Amino acid sequence: INKRKYILAGNWKMNKTNLEAAEFISKLTAKIGKEKKFEVVIAPTFLALEKAVDLTASTNINVAAQNMHFEDKGAFTGEVSADMLKSLGVNYVILGHSERRNIFGETDEIINKKIKKALEKDLTPIFCIGEKLEEREKDLTFNVIEKQVKEGLYGIEKEDVKKIVIAYEPVWAIGTGKVATPEQAEEVHAYIRKLLSEMFDEDVAESVTILYGGSVKPENYFGLFTKPNIDGGLVGGASLKESFIDLADIMR
Ligand code: G3P
Repeated sequence: INKRKYILAGNWKMNKTNLEAAEFISKLTAKIGKEKKFEVVIAPTFLALEKAVDLTASTNINVAAQNMHFEDKGAFTGEVSADMLKSLGVNYVILGHSERRNIFGETDEIINKKIKKALEKDLTPIFCIGEKLEEREKDLTFNVIEKQVKEGLYGIEKEDVKKIVIAYEPVWAIGTGKVATPEQAEEVHAYIRKLLSEMFDEDVAESVTILYGGSVKPENYFGLFTKPNIDGGLVGGASLKESFIDLADIMR
């Protein structure tokens, strides 16, 4: 038994209108609203965040944004700040998702600035990392992870690192139906923890929640989430469907 927080998070990406989000959250809260063994986090679009916070107010479900900018305010058309998220009652933010990195060109440096800003504003970052298929095939998985972790956490104090949630999402497993085996995922999670202990210390390494993401479903969660270094999941596609509610329900 470790001291880490166990989390089941759903990243809805660019899916669900406000109405659809509200209907889904009502079903979710009806079933698992008071769960204590693990924390449920949902990440709707920016537009549905306020509604999501309202609907989950009397539950243990937390709400995450899927992104934010690192500047406080100003001429940044189309961007959303940490203060804006905080003012809605949002307390998590997904940062560095591979879709942000690969489609929208976010670099490790940008992600590092965002993580620092989130911590400064008391938002918990869910910091995503993961290798692409060609990188895994070239045996570069650990190199990629090392670079992403070192650059993403550059200049952050130990005590702050402990507040961060890391999500290991191998890019080749995202939305492909091709899930990493529990052994493949565990190997990388253990490596991330080793890296944290080298960069910071053992206490930090043991404190950080590390989630797995990439084609998680009720049919495959068990082998993954029972591995010693896997502290739950960041679920995409399956978090849009009843299967997320089922997953949260069967994990109790
Ligand atoms: O952030 C979650 C994610 O990228 C995994 O997506 O659809 O493979 O569960 P999916």
